[in-house]
Amino acid sequence: MPGSPHSHDAPAHVPVLLQPLLRAVAPVHGVWVDGTFGAGGYTRGLLAAGAGRVIAIDRDPLAFRMAESWIGDFAGRIDCVEDVFSSLDCHAQDVDGVVLDLGVSSMQLDQAERGFSFSRDGPLDMRMSQSGRSAADLVAELDEADLAEILYVYGEERASRRIARAIVRARAQTPITRTRQLSEIVESCLPRRRPGQSHPATRSFQALRIAVNDEYAELVGGLEAAERALRPGGKLAVVTFHSVDDRIVKRFLQARTDTGGGGSRHAPDRPQRAPQFTQAIRKAIGPDDDELAANPRARSARLRVAERTDAPPGQSDARSLGMPTLKGG
Ligand SMILES: C[S@@+](CC[C@H](N)C(=O)[O-])C[C@H]1O[C@@H](n2cnc3c(N)ncnc32)[C@H](O)[C@@H]1O
Repeated sequence: MPGSPHSHDAPAHVPVLLQPLLRAVAPVHGVWVDGTFGAGGYTRGLLAAGAGRVIAIDRDPLAFRMAESWIGDFAGRIDCVEDVFSSLDCHAQDVDGVVLDLGVSSMQLDQAERGFSFSRDGPLDMRMSQSGRSAADLVAELDEADLAEILYVYGEERASRRIARAIVRARAQTPITRTRQLSEIVESCLPRRRPGQSHPATRSFQALRIAVNDEYAELVGGLEAAERALRPGGKLAVVTFHSVDDRIVKRFLQARTDTGGGGSRHAPDRPQRAPQFTQAIRKAIGPDDDELAANPRARSARLRVAERTDAPPGQSDARSLGMPTLKGG
């Protein structure tokens, strides 16, 4: 190995499932895309494992600013690109691998002023890219039915209508601009939390974050962009934290590894087509006991890995991927 991920002045961030990922995509060489640079843990891990160069993408400009203290140590081996990963194929072609580690970084979550956290008061923002409509804008502008739909579809919040009604009532008195305001409104609509239950605002905050960052469309777009960018034999590795995200990745890979043949001999013949990916391991890989003990946040992390074939890219259909979609589109 050309060096360890800790040989440079790296932040103390612990990347989730990094070692299982590196094992699953070994041997690592050539050019890789890290579509979710974050604190750079995967990028450093890939370079240490043998990648010659990493095209590091993040939609959050702050991610690259935070890496300024160490990124120069890898001069010429990391290209930083501020963009969404659904456009990754505009920045890289014929690459040897693509990694996506979905969700918010702990850096984003821990900074109150980014507005992702219900437990730290801050502006109600939640924009990873720090541009476009913020959570405060959605909460101020959407009508009650649209708010309820977002809470229900993206947050699986059963009290969605009650919460949307309370938001509309509260914003008529005072604009809702702080995370604490929203969190208190949600709490006032739900029964008191029992020990061991998650915070009552968890689902509503998740729903707004998904809407603000258009996360499901980004995920499907990212998988398709990776498919367009990978060379035959190139590896795709995706880490998710939520079952809905994992289901989308699983169904995408199922569809892309299926030849379209088989099925019932009584069913009409489906045309045979070449699969875009193969999968040596079909099951999702989770953290082992050591990683769980060291990092309980890894509990729900799931890794899926696939290898690109030379078949042309396929088509996706949001519904068959199980992507939650709002009625409006
Ligand atoms: C969980 S963190 C990645 C952590 C990283 N693997 C590490 O080791 O430090 C996710 C990062 O992906 C970024 N991100 C999320 N969705 C994105 C998208 N659609 N396009 C580009 N970056 C995205 C977030 O801004 C965040 O920095």
